[in-house]
Amino acid sequence: MRAPYLRCAACGESLPATSRRADCRCGGLLDVVHEPREAGATLRARFDRRRRNGDPTVQGSGVWRFRELLLPGRGPVLTHPEGNTPLYRRDAIARWVGHDDLALKHEGENPTGSFKDRGMTVAVTQAVRAGATAVACASTGNTSASMAAYAAQAGLAALVFVPAGKVAAGKLAQALAYGARTLLVKGDFDTCLRLVREASETLGLALLNSINPWRLEGQKTIVWELLQQRGWEPPDWIVVPAGNLGNTSAFGKALREARELGLVRRVPRVVSVQAAGASPFFRSFRGGFQRRYRVRAQTVATAIRIGDPASHDRAVRAIRETGGLVTAVTDVEILEAKAVVDAAGIGCEPASAAAVAGTRRLVRDGTIHPGDSVVAVLTGHVLKDPGVVMDFHARRGRHRNPPTTVAARLSEVEKVLKRGG
Ligand code: F0G
Repeated sequence: MRAPYLRCAACGESLPATSRRADCRCGGLLDVVHEPREAGATLRARFDRRRRNGDPTVQGSGVWRFRELLLPGRGPVLTHPEGNTPLYRRDAIARWVGHDDLALKHEGENPTGSFKDRGMTVAVTQAVRAGATAVACASTGNTSASMAAYAAQAGLAALVFVPAGKVAAGKLAQALAYGARTLLVKGDFDTCLRLVREASETLGLALLNSINPWRLEGQKTIVWELLQQRGWEPPDWIVVPAGNLGNTSAFGKALREARELGLVRRVPRVVSVQAAGASPFFRSFRGGFQRRYRVRAQTVATAIRIGDPASHDRAVRAIRETGGLVTAVTDVEILEAKAVVDAAGIGCEPASAAAVAGTRRLVRDGTIHPGDSVVAVLTGHVLKDPGVVMDFHARRGRHRNPPTTVAARLSEVEKVLKRGG
């Protein structure tokens, strides 16, 4: 079969890239197989040229810049555009983490406010090329926001399954605003995913969750873009929050391909950070990945409130191949990390802050050494979850910044300023 094509990680069956299936008939997950004929130096030079010149054929997209390693071939490309996210360095955050060489790649600065746009531009493009007319996903919020936006751009019908009462306001608002048919399912994310898998199978909807291999192809570009921003000099560590494990898997594939192609000579260690109340992957890691766990998930970081991650096997491979590791942080640590990132003027949603809290934990226990370079990925924008911000600052304690209600008189304002807030 001509590359790129799809291969089942479980039974080895191959399918053409134009297949409408999101997973294999045997229930296994599909991987996209590329057979690029060019070497690393040629590709690197081309990617750098496209970045410098803005790559007008794809509106300067930081995803499609890498198109020969994602979804090559003719046909329309549905780009917003997305990607080109910054690498931030802030002293206040480095101080709190206790580590100097820390950069934050802010994927919350994508068009719909999360890294999902990188996967969605590729998956929606492939779905359109494969003739889909309707798309569907289960989501803790960001996937649905992103899918709704790209479906609107493509003129596709969109059906979204979210756990009722467990989706942050900003995300739900986006799905509605972009015109997706939105189902508030009485159940958690894991239930939503089961339901949407059944529904897409029976109703012929293209499934755009991260089990869809094209999503991971797009999300690989988070890693390639950060390598490119660093002049193809890999950091020692890449730290990422983990829920359904799509991103961890995509990072593993990106690094495997980067090494095979000679884009880089060594690969960073990937760290997946889970919320302690939703940490089946961490549990599995502690047991040497002998077993897969399913848990009832609970955490303030609703984006990663997932108890049965779909991409478990792929993520195990990513951690093993990069010599990486998995850790877990409490909701208290997540909220404190978020307050520090927010107060530095950057901001992120709670799940993203897990990456910063996880980095701090690994610095404190001596896993990350003082001279190591670290890139932590902020996955979502601060405005995604205004509810958590308002609750946090309404209480008293460290890092809190509650608002003050005043009568509309200058003397009142002066009184507040003298009191010190
Ligand atoms: N951070 C944010 C902001 C997310 O929205 C998600 C996942 C993750 C981290 C975890 O990434 O699942 O690839 O391990 N959100 C999905 C959604 C589940 O439906 O929006 P993962």
